[in-house]
Amino acid sequence: TTIYLKDYTPFGYLVDSVHLTFDLAEHTTHVTSRIAFRPNPDARDRTFFLHGEDLTLIRAVIDGVEVTPNVTEKGLTVDVPDAPFIWEAVVEIDPGNNTALEGLYMSNGMYCTQCEAEGFRKITYYPDRPDVMSVFTVRINGDLPVLLSNGNPSGKGEGWAEWIDPWPKPAYLFALVAGDLIAHPGQFTTMSGRDVDLNLWVRSGDEGKCAFGMEALKKSMKWDEDVYGREYDLDVFNIVAVDDFNMGAMENKGLNIFNSSAVLASPETSTDANFERIEAIIAHEYFHNWTGNRITCRDWFQLCLKEGLTVFRDAQFTSDMRSAPVKRIHDAIDLRARQFPEDNGPLSHPVRPESFQEINNFYTSTVYEKGAELIGMLKRLVGNGAYAQALDLYFDRHDGQACTIEDWIKVFEDTTGRDLTQFKRWYSQSGTPRVTVGEDWQDGTYTLTLSQRTEPTPGQSEKLPQVIPVAAGLLGPNGDEVRATEVLELTEAEQSFTFTGLAAKPVASILRDFSAPVILEHDHTDAERAFLLAHDTDPFNRWQAGRSLAQDTLMCMIREDAAPGTDYLDGMLAVLRDGDLDPDYRSLMLGLPTQSELAAALFESGEIPDPMAIWTSVETLRQATAQHVQDLLPRLHSETLIDAPFSPDADQAGKRALGGAVLYLTSRLDGGAKAAEEYAAADNMTRQLTALSCLLRAGTGQTELADFYTQWQHDRLVVDKWFGLQVTTASPEATADTARDLTEHTDFNWKNPNRFRAVMGALAMNHAGFHRADGAGYAVLADWLIRLDPVNPQTTARMCSAFQTWKRYDADRQDLMKAQLTRIADTPNLSRDTTEMVSRILGA
Ligand code: ARG
Ligand code: ZN
Repeated sequence: TTIYLKDYTPFGYLVDSVHLTFDLAEHTTHVTSRIAFRPNPDARDRTFFLHGEDLTLIRAVIDGVEVTPNVTEKGLTVDVPDAPFIWEAVVEIDPGNNTALEGLYMSNGMYCTQCEAEGFRKITYYPDRPDVMSVFTVRINGDLPVLLSNGNPSGKGEGWAEWIDPWPKPAYLFALVAGDLIAHPGQFTTMSGRDVDLNLWVRSGDEGKCAFGMEALKKSMKWDEDVYGREYDLDVFNIVAVDDFNMGAMENKGLNIFNSSAVLASPETSTDANFERIEAIIAHEYFHNWTGNRITCRDWFQLCLKEGLTVFRDAQFTSDMRSAPVKRIHDAIDLRARQFPEDNGPLSHPVRPESFQEINNFYTSTVYEKGAELIGMLKRLVGNGAYAQALDLYFDRHDGQACTIEDWIKVFEDTTGRDLTQFKRWYSQSGTPRVTVGEDWQDGTYTLTLSQRTEPTPGQSEKLPQVIPVAAGLLGPNGDEVRATEVLELTEAEQSFTFTGLAAKPVASILRDFSAPVILEHDHTDAERAFLLAHDTDPFNRWQAGRSLAQDTLMCMIREDAAPGTDYLDGMLAVLRDGDLDPDYRSLMLGLPTQSELAAALFESGEIPDPMAIWTSVETLRQATAQHVQDLLPRLHSETLIDAPFSPDADQAGKRALGGAVLYLTSRLDGGAKAAEEYAAADNMTRQLTALSCLLRAGTGQTELADFYTQWQHDRLVVDKWFGLQVTTASPEATADTARDLTEHTDFNWKNPNRFRAVMGALAMNHAGFHRADGAGYAVLADWLIRLDPVNPQTTARMCSAFQTWKRYDADRQDLMKAQLTRIADTPNLSRDTTEMVSRILGA
């Protein structure tokens, strides 16, 4: 069944209070609920339907009288009074057998919950929808030492604890944790002087991996006060790390639950990328306290209301904590790698979808990352001051409510007086707009003609022009900036902008700071790109110039089987020589478009991508770059040495990133000799893993690989890296077999999403390996998706997106992928999650 946004109606009853009692037992947990309902004056339909799935109803009582509801697989209905009443129910659930990791489940002997989006209905009967908000009191009876729920602690004793959450919340924010856990404590005093006890709860053995996360939490709390004026609102804030978790983390009120990979960190076991991600996720979940919890979503179609805004806020935080241009570049790389393929293929959907079968399939990079880009565009269009005012109004006007995108847009309209009707198209129109640039130069006047078009996407054949903020600046022939950055508002299908009084024809730097999530089609020559790479004053576009030059070079190599052009190689040499550029930035400059991006670019220009030809072009360009910059490598290496104790800060991380890029180029020339030295000398995970990766890519390093496993086999998060790296670095020929062999390893615990993704996610990401001509990559992945589906539908469905680009490739590969998709679709009792994904991918 498909659910539509247009069918929204409010629930017939309001919930005044919820009391829950949990009697924990691995296979027979009893949940007793006592819920005060009253008719909702704003609703007409008085059907009393409570969601409930996989529950055994033991007893149901209304106002003290036992009743017999009509129970189905989805929930129950029963006749209720036309006045306030108390509903009581006892249900039995089986957390010990809950492998889907939704609702109440067990992970390493610990009870924990994941309710977003619709998991609460697997805990008890309830109107499990975000617009039903209530205050919760929770009593937990269980013989585990730590018993946690939302809100503030209100009592505890031997074998029990009670919690009261005074803030009305929807059921998806409910959480419960019970386990033998150790606290890493912290303290925060809010801006109005409220003392908050912070705790990061972990299993024994993980105590040494908490300090960084705790500091990140304090920084987040301070930042949200300083930048958004948002203060924390409970006496305690708890974070729990769990090993079995489908996503990154969850913002349950006062009790965030994290995938241990998204919170546990130490220099020995975590890479710089891990540290940065952990800092960002902790901030993200914390920021949800206001954007998500205090103000929540009316229905799941509005998911981007909380996710887009919260991703935008965590990106601002990372920019402030680290380097803003580097963060922007990372975000553009990610958007192009993950969101663009989604937006330009069969899974394309609007940032605010209009229908779904399974909402879990819409926790996508479109909703999250493109959703965040929309906030960024809005801010750029109205200006920073108006943005701040609009946000104040939003918090003021909507605190305690369950809202829509219309409410969000309205605060901007009310603040600025601006009509945002056209802007709203960004929420409803799917597909990535393409912006084409035309130029004209006459008598000192430079005319820029921008045009936009969006290709049809599933369910949307006609596209209307969107308002696109195009930040642009002009550079003179000497490389000086003759026009500072200005935001051009492209609102029509085609529009011209003129710049007068120029002495010479300028070079335009367009879409500075990646000011809109669009594909820019700008036919710069290699020489112009090299010019921008050398001179652009906008750090994003300077990087972009190098990236575009790399892409053009690779495309030319693929098409004509040609040697790489010198513009790119000389450009890289100049960048690497430029000691004024941050190490991190220089390492980003050395990056190349992904092979999958190259495949997309070829497909979009009407060619059939050949994964092996793409792979070869990248290898060749890497080799040529290594040779071209060879003489510089020793000096660069010495520039990246750090003689201070390890710190995961941006400065040191940047040096290590450049050091890693240099080591990689070096190992292409010395067969891995230097990398072997580095591996032996490594005193942190970034260095160790980088060195190992260089060795494996150089076709050596088997001794180090075995050594790495021996050293780290007790640490599940590092073992995940060990699994993943082998698949990531495998040759195209070996990738599928490597992945399959690793699934036979005793440590391949496929029911653990992190471990499953370490292998299967890496397989899907290894472009040439996944697309091996005989279809082995497709078959290995499909075998495992079919196996995982009955155990964990959410993770299975997500990973189906590996096949979303199937129509880009040649007929043979299309047939092979289609056969696997069909095989998955035909599997008996396939989950709703996976069924929806596969049918969308197939275009059925
Ligand atoms: N709200 C969480 C976050 O963005 C994501 C949880 C989604 N979980 C799910 N099973 N769909 O931080
Ligand atoms: Zn979120």
